[in-house]
Amino acid sequence: MSRFETPFVQRLRLLHPLVQAPMAGETATVELTLAASRAGALGSLGAAYFTPQRLRDSIRALKAGTERAFAVNLFIPVPWSRDPMREAAYAAEIAKAHATLKLPPPEPPQAFEENFDAQIAVVLEEAPPVFSCTFGAPDAALVKALQARDIYVIGTATHPAEARELERRGVDAILAQGAEAGGHRGTFLKPFEQAMIGSMALVPLLVDAVRLPVIAAGGIGDGRGVAAALCLGAQAAALGSSFLLAEECGTSAAYRAALQSVNNTGGDLETAITRAFSGRPARGLRNRFLEQIEGRENLLPDYPIPNAWSRPMRQAAAKQSDAEYLSLWAGQAAKLARPEKAAEIIARVMQQAHTCF
Ligand SMILES: Cc1cc2nc3c(=O)[nH]c(=O)nc-3n(C[C@H](O)[C@H](O)[C@H](O)COP(=O)(O)O)c2cc1C
Repeated sequence: MSRFETPFVQRLRLLHPLVQAPMAGETATVELTLAASRAGALGSLGAAYFTPQRLRDSIRALKAGTERAFAVNLFIPVPWSRDPMREAAYAAEIAKAHATLKLPPPEPPQAFEENFDAQIAVVLEEAPPVFSCTFGAPDAALVKALQARDIYVIGTATHPAEARELERRGVDAILAQGAEAGGHRGTFLKPFEQAMIGSMALVPLLVDAVRLPVIAAGGIGDGRGVAAALCLGAQAAALGSSFLLAEECGTSAAYRAALQSVNNTGGDLETAITRAFSGRPARGLRNRFLEQIEGRENLLPDYPIPNAWSRPMRQAAAKQSDAEYLSLWAGQAAKLARPEKAAEIIARVMQQAHTCF
């Protein structure tokens, strides 16, 4: 068996030990998931912000578009509560940004998050080949119900304790999300600082902690990272930031420009962990709104309250091509991303991974 034909690859009949990582938000398009799956990676749709109807339509479009495996990803709901003082303070910060963007003052959001029960009901009905999730561990009963529909279940862990918990709940595989990763931290059992473990340490720790396939994610930007992940015992590598410049990705023009801003200067892309946009720690490129909130993050209301309050600001900033008020989620290796078609990214990364052995 080749080093690349891991049990995970065989089980899902992939061509490569590669996952196009789920990326919720404007980035999530059926076209990207489809292109990645058709090219033999596990394409994943970050559907956490989708309405149930959009989720249903997307799963049907994916099934119609490929015979190959693909994943649909949702956020497991986490408990949260409202705190009027914190919410008012955050709304005042958003109001400042609205003024800068010449928008009317912000209005309280109508709803704070999608209805997970309605979303998961669609997943159970439409039965995509793979369901993946983050922010928490799905109930054991839900995992069983998904598996009874022949859906392969992947949970996200940022710490060995979380991987063990996911294994107890019965999931089929674990995505090890290293501290380098772009986007929200999946941490759910530990204070998030304790779960900022780099991929080089996290992957072998999880491989030893559970008997399930481990998928490495976080800071893997090209074939060198994929080869390293396989050496660490991962059965596949998940790349998120490397697909942000894919033609099929929904990344806005301003976001793309920010990711490519240092390409001709030899400079570095600076990322930081911030709660500024959503209330939950996430890694993204530094910009003005991140710095406006920096240092006062412990005073923010719970996720998803800031996420809902900041949405009109982010949408307007995307329209105005102003990257200073967008959440620019990106991992520490985001500079390795190239503007190519998803299939070209996959071919380039895999060719490079092969040359590493
Ligand atoms: C823009 C963006 C959005 C993301 N959204 C999700 C998501 O909806 N669900 C999820 O499980 N992970 C999400 N992530 C994390 C990725 O799935 C993955 O763990 C991460 O991108 C891997 O690290 P890398 O960015 O260094 O490749 C997101 C990452 C990015 C960059």
